[in-house]
Amino acid sequence: MTKLTIVAFDGSRVDLDVADGSTVMENAVRNSVQGIEAECGGACACATCHVYVDEAWTDKVGPPEPMEEDMLDFAYDVRPTSRLSCQIKMTPELDGLIVHTPEKQA
Ligand code: FES
Repeated sequence: MTKLTIVAFDGSRVDLDVADGSTVMENAVRNSVQGIEAECGGACACATCHVYVDEAWTDKVGPPEPMEEDMLDFAYDVRPTSRLSCQIKMTPELDGLIVHTPEKQA
């Protein structure tokens, strides 16, 4: 099992044990984590699963693909660490990953 932590805008945090190959968004939705809406169900077509990757993890997670980058244009308060959580797949290399939810989704 791989560890994933999601920190909400208000500072509350949820620590999850997640399956490798699952996405950050899937785990957030499955565990009813507030702040990630994921209206399109993970098709990279809504930008309501926007998160900020913790700065300690940005290199390991890597940058968005071009299609994701286009969708991020529709997200609220986009920053250099912004990603769509449906496009981040958990792997053993990401064990301990921390992401932060924005104040609101677009
Ligand atoms: Fe819609 Fe991620 S769930 S873009």
